[in-house]
Amino acid sequence: MGALIDVRAAAQAEAIALGPVCAATPPLDRAEALATWRGRMINEYSSAPVFAGLAAQLRGVDALTWAAEADEMADEEHRHGALCGAVVEALGGAALAPAPPRDALPSHPAVDGWEAVTRNLLSVCCLSETVACALITAEREAMAPGPLRDLLSRILADEVGHARLGWRWLAAHGDALADPDRRARLGAYLTVAFAHLETHELANLQPGAQVDATYGVCDAHEARGLFYETVTEVIIPRLEAHGLPAAAAWRARGGAAEAA
Ligand SMILES: [Fe+2]
Ligand SMILES: [Fe+2]
Repeated sequence: MGALIDVRAAAQAEAIALGPVCAATPPLDRAEALATWRGRMINEYSSAPVFAGLAAQLRGVDALTWAAEADEMADEEHRHGALCGAVVEALGGAALAPAPPRDALPSHPAVDGWEAVTRNLLSVCCLSETVACALITAEREAMAPGPLRDLLSRILADEVGHARLGWRWLAAHGDALADPDRRARLGAYLTVAFAHLETHELANLQPGAQVDATYGVCDAHEARGLFYETVTEVIIPRLEAHGLPAAAAWRARGGAAEAA
């Protein structure tokens, strides 16, 4: 038996009242919603050690205030896992799931400590968390006012901060990014990071049954479109503005490429 993510106690402490909406919705929709929120719970919970790892790497380059922020973000990801688990429980499920296999945050030993942590901030904050902000914003807008929308609003506010950690890091280190060799190496890394991001997002956004937006479950086809739009319209231009060759990195990613 593998490890389990058990968020039951924390989820019960967060107890979400779904009210009459739950009782009035067909069981099939509810089952789909349950699977989505359980998946979300796993993803959120699994993000906590990622930020804890970033905090340790930031401390390693004496970026102590940044490290303290990353530690807070790890706590926020735990809370998000509990909030999503509370929805699972409110929908009649148990906030319990097998823990997915997890790779440690890469240490990138071929480059110096600053560049290693910058790679991880690019991947985690500028890519993954920025995509998460776009997807959650769209889901939230499709939801009717109520406790689930409020919950997603709380999560979104934190995710914006998580994405900004990476963008603020780039803005604060313009001097280091001015070095053309560093820029070229970070560009080569972005090729790998983009390929990984695309594989991960497409795996998470599997087209399934259409579900009422009341439950905050997005249409996977639309979400995939929004993913590509976020990369090309938001992430690439912002990285390019910091001098990083992101457009070329995206074109070179290969692998799981799929047209938007
Ligand atoms: Fe989160
Ligand atoms: Fe996050």
